[in-house]
Amino acid sequence: MGVILQTKGLSKSFGKLTVLYDLNISLEKGELFSLLGPNGAGKTTTIKILTTLLKPSAGDALIDGVSIKKDSYKVRKLIGYVPQMLSADGTLTGYENLLLFGKLYDIPNKEAKRRALEALEFMNLSDFASKQVKTYSGGMVRRLEIAQSMLHHPEVLFLDEPTTGLDPIGVKTVWEHILKLKDQFNTTILLTTHIMEEADKLSNHVAFLSRGKLAATGTPEGLKSSLGKENVSMEDVFIHYTKESLDTEKSFRDLRISIRTTSRLG
Ligand SMILES: Nc1ncnc2c1ncn2[C@@H]1O[C@H](COP(=O)(O)OP(=O)(O)O)[C@@H](O)[C@H]1O
Ligand SMILES: [Mg+2]
Repeated sequence: MGVILQTKGLSKSFGKLTVLYDLNISLEKGELFSLLGPNGAGKTTTIKILTTLLKPSAGDALIDGVSIKKDSYKVRKLIGYVPQMLSADGTLTGYENLLLFGKLYDIPNKEAKRRALEALEFMNLSDFASKQVKTYSGGMVRRLEIAQSMLHHPEVLFLDEPTTGLDPIGVKTVWEHILKLKDQFNTTILLTTHIMEEADKLSNHVAFLSRGKLAATGTPEGLKSSLGKENVSMEDVFIHYTKESLDTEKSFRDLRISIRTTSRLG
């Protein structure tokens, strides 16, 4: 196995506001790691730092031994990223969106076409390859975006709230394809979610972020048994370690924004 990603005292402040404090986590190659926490916990900030889109105020992280601070260009070649807000172009077809990413990653045209078709097949989107993305369901758009982020065969894939705002079938198919990626390509995946139940079932390791601080990290089983009680849910573990309740009202608002974004695509 071996460690593929390690953060070393990552911190981030915006002016006087510190939103991430001294984060230390590490990911094993080929694992699925979930960063959990309510809105505002610092999940997106962490992902933006690890994908080199934001500079840390202190600390560093190594991805496959490469520093995000010193070698951001090299890091970008090692990673794939799907942002929180849906971002595929609704006026283009799925195939065209993929070819665009082929260009972005400097993949030669013929090879990009081959990989685009292969990715569509992998994500069960072949039948929709020549349809405009604005006709896709939210789950299909997400699968297409994951396909885009994988075209250059990255070592580590960052998915920010990949299932937020999707209907239950969308959630299920997106998860199935994330797990298939992990199994078939041994891709290391770091994702964020505020849905504790998903993370519990599917992650190798989880970390709880609460107001910018790492409250606990471990395997879902290990964390649940650490409470020393029967029938413990991930939500119970979260509340135990953070003394915080999950703000479902706020999560719901976030979900509606995401759905509005889906219907606005195109
Ligand atoms: N560019 C920015 N300037 C100022 N504050 C920001 C900025 N980006 C994020 N924040 C703040 O950082 C905190 C963490 O945000 P974020 O990382 O998006 O949380 P999460 O993804 O867990 O919901 C929030 O309080 C948010 O308002
Ligand atoms: Mg976020």
